[in-house]
Amino acid sequence: EKNELQKIGEDKIKKGHYAVITMAGGQGTRLGHSGPKGTYALETINGKKYIFEIIVDTLKQANAKYGVSIPWYIMTSRENNKETIEFLEQNNYFGYNKENVKFFVQGELPLIDIKGKIILDKNGKIKEAADGNGGIYEAFAREGLIKELKNNKIDWIFVSGIDNILSNFVDPVLLGLTIKEENVIASKSVVKTNPKEKVGVFCKMNGKPKVIEYIDLPEEMAEERDENNELVYGNVNIGTYLYNRSVFEDLADAKLPYHAAFKKSGYLDLNGEFIEPEEPNVYKFEAFIFDAFPRYNEMTILRVKRQDEFAPIKNRTGNDSPETAIKLYNEKYK
Ligand code: UTP
Repeated sequence: EKNELQKIGEDKIKKGHYAVITMAGGQGTRLGHSGPKGTYALETINGKKYIFEIIVDTLKQANAKYGVSIPWYIMTSRENNKETIEFLEQNNYFGYNKENVKFFVQGELPLIDIKGKIILDKNGKIKEAADGNGGIYEAFAREGLIKELKNNKIDWIFVSGIDNILSNFVDPVLLGLTIKEENVIASKSVVKTNPKEKVGVFCKMNGKPKVIEYIDLPEEMAEERDENNELVYGNVNIGTYLYNRSVFEDLADAKLPYHAAFKKSGYLDLNGEFIEPEEPNVYKFEAFIFDAFPRYNEMTILRVKRQDEFAPIKNRTGNDSPETAIKLYNEKYK
């Protein structure tokens, strides 16, 4: 079955019907690197590699394998757009054909203090911040890129984050499976290691596909096992999504729910003085890319091996840090 699916997917990719989006608009606060996350350098067995470079490596391998030049779209935010473009320019796009790289900037939302008031930035303007990776649908459409996909006959778009350095985002098997199942959205999962692992998992809620975050999953459901002793809610969302172009068309004006996060943010006080608070003081509103899934009846999910495809870089040290990701990368490439 795998061979059959692979063939279906490869056929589409070879005909140039496939594009890739990297979401790189996040602030990467947990990693604490001073530039955009993609500009972070890792010491690997293949030498020093910037995260962006690793993504380019994956794209180049696919291009060579399928004899194509895959269009690569990079989502940035106002805060990091300039720096991201400059970095890739300076590094000559790590050898990727510049003609095939496009940037688009996600939207922003105002920050709100605990009294529900907007706050002001240094320049006296309303302070805003990136609207979460769910801003992708609106931003992509706003920049006229859906039309571009259509003109270039691109039917399938793979979206993944900047921070998973093993992301296998040119995957003919997933594409073949999605086409065979006649779905328009797909994703990949890995097995949850234990009921307490702090990850979002796929589920169906009210009959619709959904990603449920660990904080929202009741403990008894997190523990629930099926007849094979596998966790019922054990398919971890690794932040990689495949879409038919029609989904981007459908969602161009979609309003997704906002999730509020309590964060620290500097502001101008009533005396015009800029204050850097020591404690969280504002709510930041973010839409999540996967909150669009319940609008569809079904989605395809392909379970893959964690060690092959999931090496996230979220934290400076400990779990999901550069150290753990480099280890996984080296294991894979050695
Ligand atoms: P995360 O949820 O890990 O957020 O993003 P982050 O901003 O990178 O990191 P922290 O939470 O501040 O430490 C998951 C993916 O979604 C992208 C990120 O760049 C990453 O690839 N993202 C997130 C955006 O593109 N825009 C956003 O507004 C938020």
